[in-house]
Amino acid sequence: MSGRKKVTVVGAGNVGATCAQELARRDYADVVLVDVKPSLAAGKALDINQAASVLGYEPRVVGVDASGYDATKGSDVVVITAGLPRKPGMSRDDLVKTNEDIVAEVTRQVARRSRNAVLVIVSNPLDAMCHVAKSVSGFPRERVVGMAGILDTARFECFIAQETGLSGKEVTAMVLGGHGDQMVPVVSATTVGGVPLDQLVSKSKITKMVERTKVGGGELVKLLGTSAWYAPGAAAAQMVDAICLDEQRVLPATAYLEGEYGIRDLYMGVPVRLGASGVEEVVKLKLSPAEKKMLKVSEAAVRDVVSVLTHN
Ligand code: NAI
Ligand code: 2OP
Repeated sequence: MSGRKKVTVVGAGNVGATCAQELARRDYADVVLVDVKPSLAAGKALDINQAASVLGYEPRVVGVDASGYDATKGSDVVVITAGLPRKPGMSRDDLVKTNEDIVAEVTRQVARRSRNAVLVIVSNPLDAMCHVAKSVSGFPRERVVGMAGILDTARFECFIAQETGLSGKEVTAMVLGGHGDQMVPVVSATTVGGVPLDQLVSKSKITKMVERTKVGGGELVKLLGTSAWYAPGAAAAQMVDAICLDEQRVLPATAYLEGEYGIRDLYMGVPVRLGASGVEEVVKLKLSPAEKKMLKVSEAAVRDVVSVLTHN
């Protein structure tokens, strides 16, 4: 029997196709790409397969439209990127109504065919869309998790590497909270080569990097006219790795909290242990009083969006 995993990516747009390509290159899973637009997923799958012999992986990506969900049956992980992206001037929260319907429909389709899958949600507004997927699938909290923290953290880490001139590989940071402008870059847990950030960079420069991280998605929307995809696609693929390969990595991700960090019945970005069962643990990180306060502000912002959902 083949030990290959099966991963479905719904939404063959910018983020979905990038994630599918990253996964294809890892070569441990068959990938099914789904999109509502006729022939889009088939075309992207064919293109990724044709890169296989150049880059050295098996051409095992299949692309289907919304009539082809049976191809997703028995997936180990389903990544949901279906929905509208932000346009200039829009906040992530402006997308809530349209994307709620899309994420609900996609979740219905995939959950009934892959009852044991872990769902990795990417569609925005991220924290709210995780509520929709959990409610519609009926899956336990361990198996519905959102991608945002890895991306937000990667943005912060990029700015730190550029500011210090030190290798990005040495930077360890953590961004928590909701995936909105109230997110919480945890400076107290940020180090470069083990040295605390505040011993390397002035307070005012740290503040600038923190503020830039918080609006990092918006900066890209202004530049691109739509939202980012290389870093988001790579971040989603890293979560799929941790689950499919049972890596037991501690990564920032959007998890359903039941009292952890003083937050109940809400999806929020926190450090989690990711492994074969999905979220295997919500990891506790000591926050400074100022960071705790920021997390409360972020919680209130997420609750506002979640309160308008039909599926919550
Ligand atoms: P995109 O427009 O390039 O791709 C979205 C795809 O979803 C389109 O191809 C569209 O046809 C498809 N789609 C729409 N309704 C569908 C349905 N019912 N079933 C199947 N497919 C459907 O957008 P992009 O840039 O890939 O972004 C996708 C989503 O991810 C957006 O909501 C965006 O805001 C979000 N996002 C979230 C990030 C995060 O950190 N969580 C980062 C970047 C994007
Ligand atoms: C991002 O942060 C818009 O959520 C998307 O790039």
